[in-house]
Amino acid sequence: MPEQQQVLVTGGAGYIGSHVCVSLIEAGFTPVVVDNYSNSHEVALDRVTQITGVRPPVYAVDIRDEQRLGEVFAAHDIKAVMHFAGLKAVGESTTLPLEYHGNNVGGSITLFRVMEQHNVRKLIFSSSATVYGDPASVPIKETFPCQVTNPYGRTKLIVEDILRDMSAAPDAQWNTTLLRYFNPVGAHESGLIGEDPAGIPNNLVPFIAQVAVGNLPYLKVFGSDYDTRDGTGVRDYIHVVDLAAGHVAALEQLFQVAPECRVYNLGTGTGYSVLEVVKAFSEASGLEIPYELAPRRPGDIAQCFADPELAWEQLGWRTRRDLKQMMEDTWRWQKRNPQGYRTSES
Ligand code: NAD
Ligand code: UD1
Repeated sequence: MPEQQQVLVTGGAGYIGSHVCVSLIEAGFTPVVVDNYSNSHEVALDRVTQITGVRPPVYAVDIRDEQRLGEVFAAHDIKAVMHFAGLKAVGESTTLPLEYHGNNVGGSITLFRVMEQHNVRKLIFSSSATVYGDPASVPIKETFPCQVTNPYGRTKLIVEDILRDMSAAPDAQWNTTLLRYFNPVGAHESGLIGEDPAGIPNNLVPFIAQVAVGNLPYLKVFGSDYDTRDGTGVRDYIHVVDLAAGHVAALEQLFQVAPECRVYNLGTGTGYSVLEVVKAFSEASGLEIPYELAPRRPGDIAQCFADPELAWEQLGWRTRRDLKQMMEDTWRWQKRNPQGYRTSES
C-alpha cells in the first residue's frame, strides 16, 4: 500500500526528522524534506542516503514562506505531512517568546493553509509531554489535563488546539494525529545520524555524551531532593528509532481511518532517574562520567513517564529498545562524531 507514497517531512534534517526519514524509506514511503537548517545540517540528509541508499528530495525552505512551500507541494504528489519543524528549547523560549510563537504557531498555520490549498489534510504533528505540565500522578494518560508552564509548551498546545478546531469544523476532512513525545534519546545504530545540539546541550543525554567525549568537564545533576527513589528527576527516555517507528505506525493508521483528531503518548512507560542514566551511560561507554549535585533547575518536575497503552492498542506499536541500547547508540554516534556534523566526514 505505501509503495512510493510521498510524505512531506518538515524539519526533516533535524534530530528526530532525520531518523523518521530513514524509517519512512525503509517502510516504502518517499520523504520530501523541507528544512531551513536553523538547527540542523544538510549533511544529516547525506547520512540518511548513506544508510538507506535513497536520496530523498530536499528543499531549503522555511515553512513560513507560503509561496516557496506551495511550490514544493506543486512539484510533488504529497499524500500526508509529518510536521517536525520548529524551535524546541524551553529556556530560550522564555527569552524569545515572539520568535517561538512566530515559528512554531505562525509556521504551522502557514503550513496548514498551504496543505488546504493543495487538498492535503493528513497530518502528524510533533507534540510533547511538556503539555501535561506537572501531572497530578504518573503514569500519564492522554486524557490527563494539559497545563503549560513556558512559551515553548504553549506553542505546542496552541497548535494542538488549532488542529482540534480544524478537525471539528463541519466537512473539514482533516485527519490529524498528535504525537506527544516523552524524552527522545539515542541514535541510529549505524552511528551516522544522531542528536547534534548547537552550543552547550540543555538536555541530559547529549550533555552526558559531551562530557564523555571531553567537550565538557562534568555534569551538573539538577536536584537531588526530589521525591523519587534516589532524589533525582525521573523521565521516560525513548530510543529515537522506536520513536521513528511510532511515526510510521501512525502514518499507516492515517491512511486507514476516518478523519478525526487523535492523540497518542509515545513513551516506554518506564521512568529512569538522572543517576540511573549516568550509570547506564558509564556502563555502555566504559567511561566514568564525573558529576556534581546541583540545585534544581527552575521549571523541572520530579517525575514524568507515559502510559503508552493507547498507542499499543490503536497503532500496534510498542518500544523495543532498552536504556542500555539507548546509551550504546548515543555513545557510538558521539564517539564517531565528537563535534557532531560540523567536522565529521560525510
Ligand atoms: P531539531 O531542532 O533537531 O529539528 C527541528 C528541525 O526543524 C531542524 O532541522 C530545524 O532546522 C527545522 N526548522 C525549524 N524552524 C523551521 C522553519 N521555520 N522552517 C523550516 N525548518 C525549520 O528538533 P527535534 O529534536 O528533531 O524535534 C523535532 C520536533 O519534535 C520539534 O517540533 C520539537 O518541538 C518536537 N519535540 C522534540 C522533543 C525532543 O526532545 N527532541 C521532545 C518533544 C517534542
Ligand atoms: C526538557 C524540557 C521539555 C522538553 C524535553 C525534550 C525543560 C524544563 N523541559 O524536558 O519541555 O519536551 O526537554 O526536549 O527544559 N538534567 C540534569 N542535568 C543536565 C540536564 C538535565 O540533571 O545538565 C536533568 C533534569 O533536571 C531532568 C532530567 O535530567 O530531571 C532530564 O532533563 P532534560 O533532558 O532536559 O529533559 P526534561 O527536563 O524532561
